[in-house]
Amino acid sequence: MPPSLASQALTFSQKLIQWYHRHHRDLPWRRTTDPYKIWLSEIILQQTRVVQGMPYYLRFVEKYPTVQDLARAEEQEVLRLWQGLGYYSRARNMHHTARLVVGEFDGNFPNNYAALLKLKGVGEYTAAAIASFAFNEAVPAVDGNVYRVLSRIFGIKTDITHSSAKREFTAAARQLIPDNDPANFNQAMIEFGAIQCQPVAPDCLLCPFNEMCYAFEHGAQNLLPVKSKKMKARNRYLNYLVLEKEGRLAMKERIKKDVWKGLYDFPLIETPQEAKIPNDLIEANPLVSWIKVGQLTVPQKTYVHLLTHQKLHVKFWQIELKNAEMSTLPEGVSFYSEAQIESLPKPILIDTFIKEQFFT
Ligand code: ADE
Repeated sequence: MPPSLASQALTFSQKLIQWYHRHHRDLPWRRTTDPYKIWLSEIILQQTRVVQGMPYYLRFVEKYPTVQDLARAEEQEVLRLWQGLGYYSRARNMHHTARLVVGEFDGNFPNNYAALLKLKGVGEYTAAAIASFAFNEAVPAVDGNVYRVLSRIFGIKTDITHSSAKREFTAAARQLIPDNDPANFNQAMIEFGAIQCQPVAPDCLLCPFNEMCYAFEHGAQNLLPVKSKKMKARNRYLNYLVLEKEGRLAMKERIKKDVWKGLYDFPLIETPQEAKIPNDLIEANPLVSWIKVGQLTVPQKTYVHLLTHQKLHVKFWQIELKNAEMSTLPEGVSFYSEAQIESLPKPILIDTFIKEQFFT
């Protein structure tokens, strides 16, 4: 850590907070100190941009104004409202935590960093954000934006993908956060990283720190933060079998412990390469030779869906069944009408396919 950091702490935090007062966006979760609403916003904003998360935040607050309302909801209803945000374990953990806060703490959120950290789905960043915004505790909330701001201004060259990075950047932020205004300091760091010290082509001429910024002085904005090469996404080839009978589709709940647990999709076959003909599917899984019973349409379109470390290539094989065909469905699979399907929580990919090719 640069030796200059402690001596610059006061100037830095004062300038940062002054910048924040002038330039910050008026976001609804910044107008409250209700820990429930702050928690809700921070869970939604994990891995999600403000513009994308905002409508979800507003819908959640409207439908579940208190933690008791959220705790009373069914998980399926919560997942449905979350649909499209991705990383669905966030929604399941959030619902679990709402029930815990109501059941164990009489509806009161823990009021300090250490206790917040014990909640499911609440990591160090989120615990610090809630503790500072709702309870004015002076703990730094350090995320990717904050890495960028600190590495550039103070010339910290630690690789942010390295395991020691979090500890180092948190120690730096701890020296900078003022005891008398931790909430505005943390909001300001997040906001400064988001709208001023942007990843690409930051406007340094307008920056209040350009006289003290290491990256500006050395022309190193594009080199900081140091980030070793990203992992290449793994290609996967997924084939959904879409059984249709009299306008109804066969779907099942995903019960395996994975990213889409609790959501509904179709029977799935993964192939080692792109499947082009029905036999490619039967080769991958001989148990699905039943696909021959109905009228099968070979898909023309491949949907590409990016996850953090995976690139999914998805095809939907539609199989139209006549009345008597296929009386026994695979385990866990049932037919649902259009109205029923609309209310089921689904991966956004499935929702898009259904809207494009079925119930348009
Ligand atoms: N991202 C995560 N937390 C945020 C906050 N409080 N304001 C804006 N963006 C955020």
